[in-house]
Amino acid sequence: MNQLLEEIYSTKLVKDAAGNSINPFPTATPYDIGVVLKEFIQKYNLERTLEVGMAYGLSTLFICQAHQDKGTGIHTAIDPMQNNLWKSIGLLNIERAGLADKLRFMESCSHEALPQLLTKGEKLDFAFIDGSHHFDYTLIDFFYIDKLLHLGGYVVFDDIWMPGIRKVVSYIIRNRNYELMKINTKTSAWKGFAKSTKRFLQNPLERDYGGIKLISSNVCVLKKTSEDNRDWDYHRSF
Ligand SMILES: C[S@@+](CC[C@H](N)C(=O)[O-])C[C@H]1O[C@@H](n2cnc3c(N)ncnc32)[C@H](O)[C@@H]1O
Repeated sequence: MNQLLEEIYSTKLVKDAAGNSINPFPTATPYDIGVVLKEFIQKYNLERTLEVGMAYGLSTLFICQAHQDKGTGIHTAIDPMQNNLWKSIGLLNIERAGLADKLRFMESCSHEALPQLLTKGEKLDFAFIDGSHHFDYTLIDFFYIDKLLHLGGYVVFDDIWMPGIRKVVSYIIRNRNYELMKINTKTSAWKGFAKSTKRFLQNPLERDYGGIKLISSNVCVLKKTSEDNRDWDYHRSF
């Protein structure tokens, strides 16, 4: 594993350009989720990856390190607030880790950056959605990422503890050609049970796709199984 990542997770601190320490949690991706992202990208040899939402760059470090370890691959990170709100710490961390050649950074909102990539004819193998956590923004992220994603590509949603994110995932599973993948995060059975119970209590009467509430971690992975081939009037409640 990258030495900077080890240091950040052991100290629970990141440093700005002046050397001041900041606790990146709970904004930053937990270690076990970062490891899952990295191992997933390496296991399936995913070359063109993208993430929405960089902040202090912890998920970015894991993903760029996966490309470094594979020897090939390029990652695109999109975040409109990297330089002001996050004091460029995400970009500094990538430099400090020696991974700058693995990253393309776009300082924009995703609803502006993703259409640009589409217009350029770009394609993706993997995307991690961890930007704005509102239902509409997350759905728009998915809408464009689906168009950029190769058949057989993967999209990962963070923070499925939030009802708005689960709604987006429910919509996809019920209306689009994506399947929910099983991933192994080292969540204990007890913690998994507590998470699922909390999700059921959050919106007990809603028709969320049941499988999402039962996932033991805070991320879910969807695989694109075919291009969009719905009839013009197709709709399933979600
Ligand atoms: C939870 S943080 C991301 C954490 C990061 N993935 C990590 O592991 O450290 C959410 C990020 O989304 C960004 N964000 C918010 N709205 C956005 C938008 N419309 N487009 C892209 N990024 C957005 C925020 O600036 C913030 O950096």
